Amino acid sequence: MTETATDAVRPPEAAAPLLELRAVNKSFGAVHVLRDVHLAAYAGQVTALVGDNGAGKSTLIKCIGGIHPIDSGEYLFDGKPVTVHGPRDASHLGIEIVYQDLALCDNLDIVQNMFLGRERTNGIVLDESSMERMAADTLAGLKVRTVKSIRQHVASLSGGQRQTVAIAKAVLWNSRIVILDEPTAALGVAQTRQVLDLVRRLADQGLAVVLISHNLNDVFEVADRISALYLGQVAAEVETSAVTHGQVVELITTGRSDGVADARPTGTEVGTEVGTA
Ligand SMILES: Nc1ncnc2c1ncn2[C@@H]1O[C@H](COP(=O)(O)OP(=O)(O)OP(=O)(O)O)[C@@H](O)[C@H]1O
Ligand SMILES: [Mg+2]
Repeated sequence: MTETATDAVRPPEAAAPLLELRAVNKSFGAVHVLRDVHLAAYAGQVTALVGDNGAGKSTLIKCIGGIHPIDSGEYLFDGKPVTVHGPRDASHLGIEIVYQDLALCDNLDIVQNMFLGRERTNGIVLDESSMERMAADTLAGLKVRTVKSIRQHVASLSGGQRQTVAIAKAVLWNSRIVILDEPTAALGVAQTRQVLDLVRRLADQGLAVVLISHNLNDVFEVADRISALYLGQVAAEVETSAVTHGQVVELITTGRSDGVADARPTGTEVGTEVGTA
């Protein structure tokens, strides 16, 4: 069919975003934290969300995750407007967020952490063997080999292994988009390597990944696209291959997007003028 043939040759950039926020605003009292924010995340791609401390990155993903309600704007998933009232609504859509503090329980083992609050039961008893199998399969599917036993308490894991468990927990639930808030911030070189490889693999398996990071080397290594927030506004949304480190630093620190090819759809680039006011 002609339509299919056209779809097949269409570059991923032309595909519709899996998740799209349009003109989203969020205030806490008198503090206007997000201003007309646009964000798009595509299946099979890593979208990096960058910005200085306090730019609004964590607030934005908490809005996506249903922790904070948005004040105004559109939230689209799979091209359709959706309302996300809480983390459960986000999970139902297939949105999983790995927050910076990870929210893992030290006194529980890997399997217990991965199924916390969503335990599988067989009648009235916990179905330990199926949970073990699913946990092991998920870790194996992500090619995670550094964890010795899935019955190991999380307290005994290294930072990188903990991050891996948190990510595996997120992908266990038929997730379609995984959002990671600074997954490598506390990690050494080798562990950062593992987590970045894992991030890339998630996208290669067809998930949409949003990666918040302050480390531009990491961003340039794994991200297909970069969204830069500056004081709660999007300074630009760009293809990684179309920008230099210097330009991204400029976007983050001044909000200026001179010479940068903004990939936002026409009419959503409300934040273009930031930094010039
Ligand atoms: N619950 C809240 N109540 C009031 N203000 C908040 C709340 N959460 C965040 N803010 C404010 O919103 C702004 C953006 O914060 P946010 O945590 O989203 O920044 P960030 O980009 O994630 O920064 P960092 O890189 O330091 O993690 C900050 O000025 C912060 O003080
Ligand atoms: Mg943050």
